[in-house]
Amino acid sequence: MVPVGIDKISFFAPHLYTDMTELARARNEEPGKYLVGIGQTEQAVVPPTQDVVTMAANAADQMLTAADRQAIDTIIFATESGIDNSKSGAVYLQRLLGLNEWTRTIEMKQACYAGTYGLMQARDYVALHPGSKVLVVASDIARYGLHTPGEVTQGAGAVAMLVTENPRIVTLERDNQFKSADIMDFWRPVYATEALVDGHFSADVYRDFFKTLWERYKAVTGRTIHDFKGFAFHLPYTKQGLKALRDILPEASETQQAALLAEFEASRVYNKRIGNLYTGSVYLSLLSLLSNSTTLQAGDRLGIFSYGSGAEGEFYSAIVQPDFKQGLVSGQLETLFAKRQQLSIPAYEQLFNEQLSGAEDRVLDISQDPAKFVLAGLQRQQRQYVAH
Ligand code: CAA
Repeated sequence: MVPVGIDKISFFAPHLYTDMTELARARNEEPGKYLVGIGQTEQAVVPPTQDVVTMAANAADQMLTAADRQAIDTIIFATESGIDNSKSGAVYLQRLLGLNEWTRTIEMKQACYAGTYGLMQARDYVALHPGSKVLVVASDIARYGLHTPGEVTQGAGAVAMLVTENPRIVTLERDNQFKSADIMDFWRPVYATEALVDGHFSADVYRDFFKTLWERYKAVTGRTIHDFKGFAFHLPYTKQGLKALRDILPEASETQQAALLAEFEASRVYNKRIGNLYTGSVYLSLLSLLSNSTTLQAGDRLGIFSYGSGAEGEFYSAIVQPDFKQGLVSGQLETLFAKRQQLSIPAYEQLFNEQLSGAEDRVLDISQDPAKFVLAGLQRQQRQYVAH
């Protein structure tokens, strides 16, 4: 069967952020708790002029050529912070990105897991239709609320991936192990804008799912930890992935343990500074690993662990390709970090309460938002998306 996988990957987060040392002080917590105990140093903040649609468009636009835009025949939009209960975010993307009208468009939801399902659908579709290209986007805004324990784990952003045959970055292996259980660790009823969460329970279930799937993966495939060069975890906060990795590290030699921990550090460089982006989190971690590892090479096997509360988990592997650096947008995150503006805690708190909501017509000031695609307001209950 023709190899299929991720040919290009691109990321977008808004131009605003807060510093976790400042947030800790404002919340009467030791900075060490946020920086080390949780493992977050900065957090992306969303202005009213960005939502999951504009973030996804801004991520995808940076990697697509004119030929890609003609060739894409499916857009899969994964999110748990969608803006409409009927219309999919993917349809907006088809117009904003100037994609072919002969395109399938769909939105998917299962907490932070939906991006992985979208990726696997894309892989299997391209395998059956060689030559097709599928755009998979994972775009979310993680909101727990001011002064909540989850506040330090908020964040936002979008990851866009182009799935093709003979991909440049990684091939997606057919070794997926997955598991679901109907539990209430984290959820968001349709009337709520902030998530409800049983925080410590959710963290325990995450680790339990990882361990269970890792054991099942090894039993089914015959592989061991020695077959893996590194891992990319869903990172609701980066300490969570570290705990999962530590759970299996004793299976490795001391030398490999040190190497896996070094790769883990590479895999969380970006997530530490963006925060949780739900569906996109594990793929931002993959991007971070691909961009920041100094040792990755063609043929290396990476383990990918995706977790979505509620709950569903999936573990699979991906194989690094010779030209993987060519599929990345060069210096993308470094440019984003260099240009973004820090907000004071009071300014962040004010913006937190200014997200577009309600049905009233509203015109937003887009002059301060440097992103190409922005939300200009609401007219007749229709979101006004513009490129500027
Ligand atoms: N220096 C260093 N570390 C410190 C410290 C200090 N001064 N003070 C405390 N710590 C450590 C603690 O020892 C603890 O470490 P361990 O977890 O290794 O024991 C860590 O900091 C956190 O401390 P607490 O457990 O006391 O923190 P908390 O109770 O205030 O909240 C939380 C932690 C439950 C994760 C909370 O942030 C939360 O609810 N987050 C949202 C839910 C979440 O992200 N769940 C993850 C799994 S669910 C999922 O993955 C889906 C998803 O995206 C949501």
